[in-house]
Amino acid sequence: MPWRRRGALSFPGDGILKVTVVGAGTMGRGIAQVFAQVGNEVVLTDVYEKALSLARDSINTSLSKLAKKGELKENPDTVMSRIKITGKLEEGADSDIYVEAVIEKVETKRDVLQSISGIAKPDSIIATNTSSISITQLSAFVKFPERFIGLHFFNPVPVMKLVEIVRGERTPDSLVRKCFEIAKALGKDPVISQDFPGFISNRVLMPLIREAILVLEEGIATKNDIDKTLRLGMNHPMGPLELADFIGLDVTLDIMEVLYHEYGDPRFKPPITLRNLVNSGKLGRKTSEGFYKY
Ligand code: 3HC
Repeated sequence: MPWRRRGALSFPGDGILKVTVVGAGTMGRGIAQVFAQVGNEVVLTDVYEKALSLARDSINTSLSKLAKKGELKENPDTVMSRIKITGKLEEGADSDIYVEAVIEKVETKRDVLQSISGIAKPDSIIATNTSSISITQLSAFVKFPERFIGLHFFNPVPVMKLVEIVRGERTPDSLVRKCFEIAKALGKDPVISQDFPGFISNRVLMPLIREAILVLEEGIATKNDIDKTLRLGMNHPMGPLELADFIGLDVTLDIMEVLYHEYGDPRFKPPITLRNLVNSGKLGRKTSEGFYKY
């Protein structure tokens, strides 16, 4: 295969890959980490200096947690040494796989995907970690749409087993199969979705979060009791309001906006409370306040 490299084996039947992750937010950091954990060379890049320094700290913390539990095959420093954190996207030239993990705005993703396309080899895989935007729509921004696919990871990436593989109109079966293999090699358990807004995960999750916010707005129950209901009654690890805070209320709002715009269905309409919290800068855990204070 053209993108196979020489060297130690990390993927079954394949060599070490050079992987570039663009966007060093919560998702990008986690994605960079899991690729490095299985032996690949990783470039993690972002235009925000602050995101890059936070990424280093958070990957170190995560690796230490895994090492303490005996879940890391190597020393955290060895894994960390494979991740180059840089503000320069060009350092990712010659990569086998690019994963775009920037904010959930089409314009931002367009700019990033065009820049990636400018440095990628014709046979590189370009993946997007979009949570909701059409893969086919985004594929228009890359030079080779038949090398483009959705690889949707879940937060916290080093812990969550799922990867949603999303096939655009021009994604060939061979690339879906390859990405399935890659996800398995990362220790994940993938599912495959057709290219419909929100795919499987957020098509199901966003109406749940929305309904929980409406139950709160309508004064039916307190936030604690809403979350407790899902935690204790349905065995969810987090209630839907806690989960929205964990995902980020800005990200949650962006995803609902995409779903509402694309399906035109009121079951995805962002509640006013969510919009108000985002407009007041209360974005959940990352700003220490959302539905809850942290
Ligand atoms: N790296 C490594 N290990 C981590 C970690 C990280 N970033 N975060 C948590 N852990 C480990 C902890 O060390 C702990 O290990 P232990 O049980 O062996 O001691 C374990 O995970 C549990 O963590 P905590 O004890 O700190 O806390 P919890 O028991 O509350 O678990 C949680 C935290 C794993 C986040 C759990 O609450 C959970 O599964 N929540 C739901 C998360 C979820 O639904 N994520 C998906 C969001 S949707 C999404 O991402 C898609 C997007 O498109 C919106």
